[in-house]
Amino acid sequence: MIIAIDGPAASGKGTLGKRLAAHFGFAHLDTGLLYRAVARTLLDRGLDLTDEAAATDAALNLDVGHLDDDSRLRGAEMGEAASVVSAFQPVRDALLAFQRQFGARPPGAVLDGRDIGTVVCPNADVKLFITATPEERARRRHRELAGRGETVAYESILADIRRRDERDMNRATAPLKAASDALTLDTTHLDAEATFQAALGLVEARIG
Ligand code: DC
Repeated sequence: MIIAIDGPAASGKGTLGKRLAAHFGFAHLDTGLLYRAVARTLLDRGLDLTDEAAATDAALNLDVGHLDDDSRLRGAEMGEAASVVSAFQPVRDALLAFQRQFGARPPGAVLDGRDIGTVVCPNADVKLFITATPEERARRRHRELAGRGETVAYESILADIRRRDERDMNRATAPLKAASDALTLDTTHLDAEATFQAALGLVEARIG
């Protein structure tokens, strides 16, 4: 069984994905980490993020075994950088097989990202599209970064979120959008627990 979760930056889809996976005993993949790791490789090598050939090479040779080990991957800088390299079609192609294999893990998997319901797992059993206003997402990201000791101004986070939304939604390849059969959940006024309960209700209604 596959649960696909898509949504914009800081919409709460990662936290939700983790909780749904734990609830059902499924594996969980935060696919944003793949693009963040590609961006990290380029930055570490001193290469330009717009170098499509280098980004493709990094994606093809990505060590997917250690994505969770590096807290720098989850930082604000890497999110913005990931948004740039993820617009290259060959980068996306290079990461597709791994994501699909992950989705096939028994007894089930939860994948979250931007194109899971539309491209990676179009046959997912349940597709959720998680949204919240840019202001609320910026508040959450601000809190999360502060909790990790990163001091970034709220206004700068909001600007980053708007820029990423714009880039992720308007790119030519696999743009961020809800699949036609996705269930949309607006979490602007929901905390993590309420989001989980609402999503669980949607999943259970869909799978019966
Ligand atoms: O979910 P995130 O903030 O970690 O994602 C970082 C960037 O990676 C995001 O701005 C766009 C890209 N991304 C993508 O294009 N497709 C995905 N399935 C996941 C992330």
